[in-house]
Amino acid sequence: MSQEPKAIYLKDYKVPAYLFESTDLRFELFEDEALVHAELVITRNPACTASAPALELHGHESVELVSLSLDGRALTDNDYVREGEMLTIATPPERFCLTSTTRIHPESNTALEGLYKSGGMFCTQCEAEGFRRITFFPDRPDVMSVFRTTVEADKTRYPELLSNGNPVARGLADNNRHWVTWEDPFPKPAYLFALVAGDLQHIEDRFVTMSGRNVTLKIFAEEKDLDKLDYAMTSLKNAMKWDEETYGREYDLDIYMIVAVDFFNMGAMENKGLNIFNTSCVLANAATTTDSGFQRVEAVVAHEYFHNWSGNRVTCRDWFQLSLKEGFTVFRDAEFSADMNSRTVKRVEDVSLLRTAQFAEDAGPMAHPIRPESFIEISNFYTLTIYEKGAEVVRMVRTLLGEALFRKGSDLYFERHDGQAVTTEDFILAMEDASGQDLSQFRAWYHQAGTPELHVSDQFDAAAGEYKLTVKQSCPPSPGQEKKSAFHIPLAMGLLNEKGEEVELPNGETTQILNVTEFEQTFIFSGLSTKPVPSLLRGFSAPVKLFYPYQRDELMFLMAHDSDGFCRWDAAQKLAVDIMQALIADYHPDKAMVLDGRLVSAFRSVLDAEGLDKAMVSKVLTLPSEAYLSELSDCVDVDAIDAVRKFVRHSIAVQLEDRLRAVYQENDLDIAYSPDADSVARRSLKNLCLSYLMSLETEASLQLAKAQYEKADNMTDMQVALVLVAHSSFRSDAKALLADFYQRWSGESLVVNLWLSIQASDPNEGALSRVLELMQHPAFDGKNPNKLRSVISVFCAQNSTHFHALDGSGYRFLADRIIELNSQNPQIAARMLTPLTRWKKFSAARQALMKAELERIRESGDLSKDVFEVVSKSLV
Ligand code: PHE
Ligand code: ZN
Repeated sequence: MSQEPKAIYLKDYKVPAYLFESTDLRFELFEDEALVHAELVITRNPACTASAPALELHGHESVELVSLSLDGRALTDNDYVREGEMLTIATPPERFCLTSTTRIHPESNTALEGLYKSGGMFCTQCEAEGFRRITFFPDRPDVMSVFRTTVEADKTRYPELLSNGNPVARGLADNNRHWVTWEDPFPKPAYLFALVAGDLQHIEDRFVTMSGRNVTLKIFAEEKDLDKLDYAMTSLKNAMKWDEETYGREYDLDIYMIVAVDFFNMGAMENKGLNIFNTSCVLANAATTTDSGFQRVEAVVAHEYFHNWSGNRVTCRDWFQLSLKEGFTVFRDAEFSADMNSRTVKRVEDVSLLRTAQFAEDAGPMAHPIRPESFIEISNFYTLTIYEKGAEVVRMVRTLLGEALFRKGSDLYFERHDGQAVTTEDFILAMEDASGQDLSQFRAWYHQAGTPELHVSDQFDAAAGEYKLTVKQSCPPSPGQEKKSAFHIPLAMGLLNEKGEEVELPNGETTQILNVTEFEQTFIFSGLSTKPVPSLLRGFSAPVKLFYPYQRDELMFLMAHDSDGFCRWDAAQKLAVDIMQALIADYHPDKAMVLDGRLVSAFRSVLDAEGLDKAMVSKVLTLPSEAYLSELSDCVDVDAIDAVRKFVRHSIAVQLEDRLRAVYQENDLDIAYSPDADSVARRSLKNLCLSYLMSLETEASLQLAKAQYEKADNMTDMQVALVLVAHSSFRSDAKALLADFYQRWSGESLVVNLWLSIQASDPNEGALSRVLELMQHPAFDGKNPNKLRSVISVFCAQNSTHFHALDGSGYRFLADRIIELNSQNPQIAARMLTPLTRWKKFSAARQALMKAELERIRESGDLSKDVFEVVSKSLV
């Protein structure tokens, strides 16, 4: 960048001056270049009021314009202006045909945006602004066009040629080449365009839609991965059925395709009729995939499928509306996963992610509302805020409207806006119109950043039998937003009497939604004989931080009696957090720690209780993560958090050793692997027990872990055993097992990623030098985002004591990587930068070191927009 990149603003939005009736593309793919021929039929947009508007097309600087003509007349330099990312034609006719040929270089495209090569195949990634790296086109989501695409390539190397829609023609060309033409009848923005050419195998199935149409389903991968596609296919069919039943949404083309690619910046992409997936989100089988891997495949396949309506049929007007499709679609996939597996477990997992990572983002320098007002690089806004908080906001709408009116609202939204590019405001309006409810104040969730805080206090008047709950809300400032207006917060709650029974509330039920709309509000409950214990934020009804001065005994009481599964888990978390925070505050390396016995007895009763859902037992017994404890700290004490977690885990293991071993044994069944919810639950409980036992560092537990590794018929059991041994102090066993694992799995790239992450997160001495060594290993590929994440991101996020080493070596390491990656793959570079952006959360010494590295990146030369935005906002 010679000039400082500029922000673009929502307030500057203008309707496009031209509409694109049809887009005809022809790709000629070669080993050293690709030629793209485009034929665009363009008309003036009646909605644009400008008198003689110019035609503006995007085109990345890497695109070579070979020829351009208008209605058959070749244009010269005098007929258009090419400046930065824009090509402008001053006064074109009302209706005309523009043809162009561009030359691009997929073979050397390391940014993985636009057309690029993943291994031996060609593929595309166009969201958000990748299409401008292919040809000249209005690369904005409100310009929708009908695409017809011909792909031509060498027949031997690229037997499979795919694009959006239906194949309509194919043929042979000279020089051993062939071509296929695809037509997609649904108008779509350029970001949903896709093309794949490669030597691919596929599995095929069929789905009959609710109106009786036949849809062919194909999932493509390299031949070696053909045995890992069945689970994605089952998930896809389940998702298609679920969307018909839950939202009345039917699939609309005759064919639905998914392609697995090795090189991919994100998880997956919802291109119309031709999803492109990171292999990590689509390949799965028992031998190579962990339980959480299976669940990710199910969720991501569903997510991309659901986008066909929430994203493709109804798309975004501009990128400030990103959460319109992403928040809604995450909400939809979360509900799907909840229906397929355990609802409470899914909720616990999502809330954990939100409370650790999204809350941290909301409190950091990149904080933004779910509908941002400005950005420099849109790729930096594919965030937990847009996705996860966005989903929470949709969830709150459903809570406020109730299920039936929410469905009425979504029906209206899809019907009213089918084929349009719309805004989050249109979504809310549809919900209001369908329900008759007023969501004016609720809209603040869309334009105010930061995590609201609820401070709840109570009072009991025994004589009057009256219980008062006072709720105060506030929200800390975020960049550009000092003062916030009051949010409309649905606070689901219940009351428990002294026997642990649910009290009937004014609505006649045991759970009620309090509408918190003011900065301070009091809710009164009468007819109570004793002071109840409140159960607050049931089901995590709003993405807020809730403070209520629970006594530890009250938390144990809630753990035992609350009828809300989420709150039972949360009570256990709060108890552990409260105890651990006290230990952290009091931490000194030479001072002995003492564990409050109540945590152990609470855990013991959960282990002993009959009939509890095993998945929930293992969630309850899982200590709050390092990341969560850090998020809760004003100033993160990395060493104290690490030491306290180790101490608490060890103490629990010492005191519950026999029970843990017994539960391990009970759940160590010799039955064939299945990724169903019950089996996943059983394995997670068993493996949790094993991890407590391994914290004892005894020979007996080492033998148990090694035995599990040896006999495992699935990657879940094998991986857990390997992690535990690899991270233990039994160094020679660790070495031997890691070597064995690599030898078994060196041919399976995704398994090798596990092997890399296990080593990158190994907390033993010498972590950074091991990481540097790993980066020299033949299994590492510095151009592949999955490998980069497995080593670098894992080290920075999951090996805190080493990343935060007081000599600054961890920070320097990350900054060096960012500087290298900045030109190679800007999206990945900017994402990997996140840990450094949190510098204000650490001690003065660490702050200085982190800040110095951010400054070094800033001064390192030509920064991409992506990295520039994150670095400059972090240094404010
Ligand atoms: N739109 C994709 C999804 O959430 C994510 C994505 C964004 C993929 C940008 C690639 C590039 O489903
Ligand atoms: Zn999405």
